[in-house]
Amino acid sequence: MWRFGPLVLPGAVDAAVTWPEGNTPLIARRRIAEWAGVPALQLKHEGMNPTGSFKDRGMTVGVTQAVRVGATAVACASTGNTGASLAAYAALAGIPALVLVPVGKVALGKLTQSLAYGARTLLVRGDFDDCLRLVREASEELGVYLLNSVNPFRIEGQKTIVLEMLDQLQWDVPDWIALPAGNLGNTAAFGKALREACSLGLITKMPRLLAVQSDGAAPFAMSYRENFRVRHRVRANTIATAINIGAPASYQRAVQAIRETNGVVTSVSDGNIMEAKAIIDAAGVGCEPASAASVAGVRQMVLAGIIAPDARVVCVLTGHVLKDPESLDRYHRGTEPPPAHANRPIEIDATVRAVADVMRTLRT
Ligand code: F0G
Repeated sequence: MWRFGPLVLPGAVDAAVTWPEGNTPLIARRRIAEWAGVPALQLKHEGMNPTGSFKDRGMTVGVTQAVRVGATAVACASTGNTGASLAAYAALAGIPALVLVPVGKVALGKLTQSLAYGARTLLVRGDFDDCLRLVREASEELGVYLLNSVNPFRIEGQKTIVLEMLDQLQWDVPDWIALPAGNLGNTAAFGKALREACSLGLITKMPRLLAVQSDGAAPFAMSYRENFRVRHRVRANTIATAINIGAPASYQRAVQAIRETNGVVTSVSDGNIMEAKAIIDAAGVGCEPASAASVAGVRQMVLAGIIAPDARVVCVLTGHVLKDPESLDRYHRGTEPPPAHANRPIEIDATVRAVADVMRTLRT
């Protein structure tokens, strides 16, 4: 992604703390498009970044900047992915990292990444919103360099999701770009990227943004329905732990992004998120629960008549399927009642006959 360096952090390319990241695939899968109700659906898979989420694009820039300003330690609050990414990039740069996560509410893959990469990982008795408040106070009082998306350098990096996608589309702008929305850093970054692409003349029309939350954590969707007259805060509760956020920090910049793109904000049920995820997973693509909200949101908007079935739509899949193994296990082994697309493991005796019995039930 550092090929966009001049638009991201001018003059820093040679000193970048980078894996590298970006250059993620833009793919089409017929079964997913059919389920969503939009034949021309494409998926930009940000789970294919080094630590398995789009956060790496912001973190390479944020940690590069931390080194430039001589930071002695870096910190973030996280629902998991930001922490995993910070832990990795801090290790690459040789700077100690502090990661604050809500105890019991972080997917296993993410928590273990943070530990593996060597970040001091604090399990805070509270939710993500408590973690963010705490880390902001701590960074001010203790002089730790804050790397949440309230840090503008993070946003600069995340702009490249959109720039790279447009490049892959030969700058032929899609009608809609759909993304899951939690703390709203990414929504803000998408808006900024599109605004800059427009003013540079790289594109001549704006795609519409569709920001998708879970019904259980939908303060931004609530505000959108009231034309952003009120900034809502909620106590968040969704299976999609990545976006389990009740008081999004980048609210104001995200409002601007939605307004400037004639965008839409909606929310979908956890059931719909898990169904979308099962379709995406079974197509061989795979993503974590929060990521599937983008596709579930598109389906909802098509059914509501807001997205036309012949629209060109890009959904951003924000995180890798292996981030959240517990939710996969719960879904596929679930019994009461078994979820619609559950693929239960089958225990057998070690005989060819037992294998043959199973083979008779296979579908193509
Ligand atoms: N998808 C995934 C997989 C995420 O991890 C996040 C945010 C989002 C979507 C939403 O993006 O916050 O910019 O609106 N994860 C943050 C974290 C909060 O700590 O990892 P957003």
